[in-house]
Amino acid sequence: MKIKAFVRDHIPGRMYEKLRRLKSLLLLFVLFMKQDRRFSKNAALPGNMGQKQLETQLIFFSHQIEKGLSHSNFRPGFGSRPIYALGVCLKNWNSHGYSKDIFGFKVATSALKAYIDKHDEIGCVLPDFFNGAFDREIMKDIDASDPSFSGTSVISGSENSSSMKTYSQILNSRVSIREFEDCPVSESTIESAISLAMRAPTVCNRQPQAVRVIFNKLIIKQALTIQGGWRGYEFPPALLLVTAHNSSFNNAIERNEPYVDGGIFSMALLGALESYDLGACPLNTMFDIHQDGSTRRLLNISEEEEFIMYIAVGKKKVGVSHPRSFRKAAETVTTVIR
Ligand SMILES: Cc1cc2nc3c(=O)[nH]c(=O)nc-3n(C[C@H](O)[C@H](O)[C@H](O)COP(=O)(O)O)c2cc1C
Repeated sequence: MKIKAFVRDHIPGRMYEKLRRLKSLLLLFVLFMKQDRRFSKNAALPGNMGQKQLETQLIFFSHQIEKGLSHSNFRPGFGSRPIYALGVCLKNWNSHGYSKDIFGFKVATSALKAYIDKHDEIGCVLPDFFNGAFDREIMKDIDASDPSFSGTSVISGSENSSSMKTYSQILNSRVSIREFEDCPVSESTIESAISLAMRAPTVCNRQPQAVRVIFNKLIIKQALTIQGGWRGYEFPPALLLVTAHNSSFNNAIERNEPYVDGGIFSMALLGALESYDLGACPLNTMFDIHQDGSTRRLLNISEEEEFIMYIAVGKKKVGVSHPRSFRKAAETVTTVIR
């Protein structure tokens, strides 16, 4: 502290500001390097295939199967890529002798059972690539799987959409909806949902979030084509883009806070949309450089903002299916420290 006070009192103001900036940039660099090391060592990147990373792959590819199973215009024999990948991952899992009582393993075998059952139900033979993907041990695991861990569920009508839902009702009833009624969404209802979501807390109440509400069909189509995670569905009647302003943050240690505040706000917005009985689906903005640039140009977004997520919005269509997206038990993610 004494050195800091000495420097501040004895060097010209502009020079002092430059030194402070240099210190911030150095700290930012060091923190990013450490983050880089943590991520590159532990994420499920090629070459990092421990049990946890393999479980990530199992959940990732199983969700693709669930999505394919939930389509209204179901395409028999879909999914050669995720089925092949699940075959490789499950073989790997069993050859390491990992437990079959792990969430990702149960989800994967359950998703594959749902795939078989769906084909049986509609009288279609399984595609050749399915039969070629799994050995006898895995086929036994699939056969013995618990159906509640994957598959699809159906969207039911709200029991009473005019009465206010409690927070627990909202969390229990909201799901990602990707097929909507073919009708516009009221702008004022979306505005009311955004107003409600403004109750979300942010660090020091800085409120870095911003929302673009897109109704233009061509822009929605272009934006989601760049995004890439909406293949096989009709484009939604409305698309929200949540971003967060970097200018709301003032220290290198706050570098990830746009994502935290933006994420909390987005969840509040999803809840608010559900409270107005609108269907919604969060959509990632995990862009590569090309997608980032194209989206910024399309929507006129400067580098000052970070992408948080899109949210597709529309009127719920009763009776359509959605992926079950079964959740882990709370105790498996909780550590109590006494
Ligand atoms: C940040 C984020 C990004 C997502 N991106 C996509 C996406 O690109 N495409 C998609 O179909 N679903 C996407 N989802 C939806 C998830 O698949 C879904 O939330 C998850 O399976 C849990 O299911 P639920 O929302 O029905 O509870 C995303 C969800 C979140 C939170």
